[in-house]
Amino acid sequence: MGKAFGAVAGVGAVGSLVAMKKSWDPLPSVKAAGFTTLDMSIYKEGELVTEKWRGKPIFVLKKTAEMVAKQTENQKARDIVVNGEHYMVAIGLCTHLGCIPGYNPDEQSFLCACHGGMFDFAGDVTKAPPPRGFDIPPFKIEGSKMILGEVGPEYEAMKNSGVTL
Ligand code: FES
Repeated sequence: MGKAFGAVAGVGAVGSLVAMKKSWDPLPSVKAAGFTTLDMSIYKEGELVTEKWRGKPIFVLKKTAEMVAKQTENQKARDIVVNGEHYMVAIGLCTHLGCIPGYNPDEQSFLCACHGGMFDFAGDVTKAPPPRGFDIPPFKIEGSKMILGEVGPEYEAMKNSGVTL
């Protein structure tokens, strides 16, 4: 009898722990707010589009064949490939003091008007004071979609190799 009661009490304790954990988990709406899914098939080559993720601007630049062909090793390391197409996807905030740099398609580069910092079309820094290239948001690739806020193997590899913080 004592044993049976103990077993029942144990099941009850696990049940209430599960219930407590459920109440700590964020609501589905809160969870969904942390993710942004981009359909990468809609972007046009050489055109910068600014998306939004967690209140931050996200630069998306589908690279032209000419850009892909001339990329240096550093630029290649920042390349995000979805369905065979190459993209620069990065948080559009200067890594100096957080201004939003502007893109010049003729120069294929970004200029931060605040203190003159510059970045290339791959988002790598080319002129100080920014200490590093644009940060790359956590991402996961699923078919032709890119989910910002989820960590996939491509992002993990970039982080581990120091391409992004
Ligand atoms: S904030 Fe961009 S150069 Fe200073």
